[in-house]
Amino acid sequence: MTAQLIDGNALSRKIRADVSGRIAALKASGVEPTLAIVLVGDDPASQVYVKHKVNDSSETGLTANLERYPASMTEADLLARIHALNEDPKVHGILVQLPLPPHMDSHRVIEAISPAKDVDGFHVASAGALMVGQPGFWPCTPHGCMKMLESIGYDLRGKHAVVIGRSNIVGKPMAMMLLAKNATVTICHSATKDLGAITRQADVVVAAVGRRNILTADMVKPGAVIIDVGMNRKEDGKLAGDVDFDGVKDVASWITPVPGGVGPMTRAMLLANTLEAAERAAR
Ligand code: GUN
Repeated sequence: MTAQLIDGNALSRKIRADVSGRIAALKASGVEPTLAIVLVGDDPASQVYVKHKVNDSSETGLTANLERYPASMTEADLLARIHALNEDPKVHGILVQLPLPPHMDSHRVIEAISPAKDVDGFHVASAGALMVGQPGFWPCTPHGCMKMLESIGYDLRGKHAVVIGRSNIVGKPMAMMLLAKNATVTICHSATKDLGAITRQADVVVAAVGRRNILTADMVKPGAVIIDVGMNRKEDGKLAGDVDFDGVKDVASWITPVPGGVGPMTRAMLLANTLEAAERAAR
C-alpha cells in the first residue's frame, strides 16, 4: 500500500465534537437545536438510516423528533405536516427520508420543505444556491467529501477532478463544489465512452455510481486522490465501495476506505447542517 488513508471515522468524530460544542453554546443561549425526521412507510433500509440519524443526533446533543407514518398516508397529509413543520419555530431542520411510497411525488414533497430548513440540501432552491455560490444547505455526502479533501490540505485550484456519477444528491452537487474551488471538473456517467481514458487524466476522482470496481488501478494516474462514495453489498454481506481498493491503493496518494470513509462523513454533515440551520434561525 502506498496511498494514505483518509479516515472518515476519525474526521467525522472531530466534526461531531465541534458540532457538539456549538450545540451546547446554542442551548446555553436558550435555543434547542431540533431536527424533524419524517419516515413514511416501512422500507427496511430507511428504518436503519433513520435510526442512525436519531442516535447521531442525541449523541451530539441535537433533539431529533422522529415522526413515523404508515405507507398509506396520503401525499396531501404529508404536505400538510411539512407545512406545519415549516411554520414551527422550534423546528430548525426537516428531513423527509427517501424513498417515499410510490403513490407520492418525491419532488413535490421535497419542494414543500422550507429551504431554510432543508438540511438534506435536496430542495431546488438549495441546488440553485450551490450552483450560483449563494448561502444554502449543501447535500451531506458531497459536502463530506469536500471536508475530506480539506482535511489533507489538498488545493484543488487548477487540478483535474473527475466525478463518476451524475445524481442530484451526489454527482452534480459534487461537481459544483469542486468547481467552486477552482478545479477543472469532468462529470462521467453510464454513457461515458472510455471512462479509463478520462480518469487517467484525473488528479482527483470521486466515484459515486453504486457499482463495485467501477474504478480499477489501471484507470488511475499515479498519485491521484481517490474518494469512494459507493456503498455496495458484497456476496458475503460486507460493504464495498465503487473503487477496487486493493488495486487502487498501490497507485493513489490518498484514498478513502469503505466502510469508514464517506459514510460517517455524510452522517456528520447532516448534524452540521442542522446546527447551521439552528444558528441561522437564532441570529
Ligand atoms: N435516503 C437515502 N439517503 C438519504 C438521505 O441522505 N436523505 C434522505 N432524506 N433520504 C435518504
